[in-house]
Amino acid sequence: MNVAVQAKAPAAAPLIRTRQIDIGYAGLVALKGVSLQIAKGEIVTVIGPNGSGKSTLIKALLGLIEPQGGSIERAPGLTIGYVPQNLAIDANLPMTVARFLSLPVRHSAGTTAAMLERVGVPGAQSKQMADLSGGQFQRVLLARALLANPQILILDEPTQGLDQPGIAAFYKLIEEVRKERGCAVLMVSHDLHVVMRATDRVICLNGHVCCEGAPDAVLEAPEYRALFGDGTRGAFALYQHHHDHSHDQGEGHGHDHGHQHAHYHDHDHDNDHAG
Ligand SMILES: Nc1ncnc2c1ncn2[C@@H]1O[C@H](COP(=O)(O)OP(=O)(O)O)[C@@H](O)[C@H]1O
Ligand SMILES: [Mg+2]
Repeated sequence: MNVAVQAKAPAAAPLIRTRQIDIGYAGLVALKGVSLQIAKGEIVTVIGPNGSGKSTLIKALLGLIEPQGGSIERAPGLTIGYVPQNLAIDANLPMTVARFLSLPVRHSAGTTAAMLERVGVPGAQSKQMADLSGGQFQRVLLARALLANPQILILDEPTQGLDQPGIAAFYKLIEEVRKERGCAVLMVSHDLHVVMRATDRVICLNGHVCCEGAPDAVLEAPEYRALFGDGTRGAFALYQHHHDHSHDQGEGHGHDHGHQHAHYHDHDHDNDHAG
């Protein structure tokens, strides 16, 4: 047989691996028997309906929730950068971007400034967190996650509340950052049509892993179609169209960062509540 054709280097140990984890909340089973692993430098997207356990899985990976069954292994000394799904900052609480980025670890002013510039909000240090647009806020969260110098960047629905151009721009930034740093990325996203070009592997979750694989294979999988129908196909086609026309946006010209991303609509915040 053709075994020799697959003569790749032996797979490195994963950064993080779950084996058959179970997590429940007071009688409700959120995750059952979930096994997955994230390799170095890989981009993995987790999709699933609301309430399917995506955020629970992320919190378990971060060590914020202990599984009741199964196990989680992390590479020794693993550093994780985390962009949470919902971070409510009290509008009455004065908190500058610089202060926010100094929690819990202080960085030099130069490091902070360079990071803010990199994520497309140059000079935002003295702004109040409460005054940022949705797109700027997400970029500051990303900056904070990156300041941890992560081997894996974990983002839980990072584009919630952004409009379509804002979503595309944010994921483009993620893709660039990953290339620059070579970190792995694990993101929860409903925007499969936008992220799939940059995604190595999709994990479709519904309390358990329904299906998993390369994005186009998952789109064709009956399990995926049973969960999401054919609708996302149309959205994907739409994205490809958009993408053809979006190369003039912030394509490394080093100017005007952030302006086109600042549109914010806060009317879809109720979309994500599990019933
Ligand atoms: N802290 C909690 N206490 C009780 N139930 C929870 C808690 N967090 C999540 N759940 C429930 O667990 C299930 C999975 O939630 P979650 O992981 O947030 O799903 P997703 O992120 O995919 O929308 C849902 O039914 C949700 O209502
Ligand atoms: Mg969630």
